[in-house]
Amino acid sequence: MKEIDAPIGVFDSGVGGLTVVREIIRQLPSENIVYFGDTARVPYGTKSRDTVINYSEQIVHFLMTKEVKAIVIACNTATSYALDVLKDKLDIPIIGVVRPGAITAVNATRNGRIGIIATEGTVGSKIYPRVIREYNPEIQVVQKACPLFVSLVEEGWTNDPVTDEVARRYLRSLLDSNIDTLVLGCTHYPLIRKTIGRIVGEDVTLVNPAYETACSLRTLLQQEGLYRESGKTSYHFFVSDGAERFSKFANSILPVDLVPTRLVPIENY
Ligand code: DGL
Repeated sequence: MKEIDAPIGVFDSGVGGLTVVREIIRQLPSENIVYFGDTARVPYGTKSRDTVINYSEQIVHFLMTKEVKAIVIACNTATSYALDVLKDKLDIPIIGVVRPGAITAVNATRNGRIGIIATEGTVGSKIYPRVIREYNPEIQVVQKACPLFVSLVEEGWTNDPVTDEVARRYLRSLLDSNIDTLVLGCTHYPLIRKTIGRIVGEDVTLVNPAYETACSLRTLLQQEGLYRESGKTSYHFFVSDGAERFSKFANSILPVDLVPTRLVPIENY
């Protein structure tokens, strides 16, 4: 296999990273993809830094067996904790979702007040405020952890009165702080974007880092001479549990026909 034809490895704790895959397929339609969702160990957002780094390292070892040419961490929590550690160890390009999302938010805000909703891990790491202030130190950042959103999405309750009520409770305090831009700082959250958008109202711009992540990936691949402009594509999906359930969900949100999802004993890697 020529290096340029090698797949891009993408991973998340579960189905959330599919929002990034969806965007990569749209913007880089000739790239091959290998996806891993750690469905046996989701959620990552409530786990310690060391645990998330350990899980991320196992997943990267697995993806390397698929001879990937680059890796996208399609998970904000794993990006917050593990991106720098993995960067130091790998000799292929690797990107996360936080910086692309932060830049989009900085460009979108009009009143300089940005809200971040994310997992407890991402909020606790303070990575978004740090990266946003690198671009503009004047911006006020208000964060809110919304841990239940991940379970609601994994359960498939993306359009449900229970999700509406949970979202109303989480988002109330953010709205009181007069933000005009809200970053969906967990890759599961774009799957309940409609619910979130209805509650925050149309004056608040929602930022989905997936779009900008796919743009950054294209730029990176072009710089490295790894960008694949044409050719037949293949997409392979792996999970650590519940392959059938995952396949069903993936089929409902991706614009391609999927090959069956396969199980991987990820703790062996
Ligand atoms: N989708 C992930 C994120 O972006 C992780 C959610 C979780 O597993 O808690 O943070």
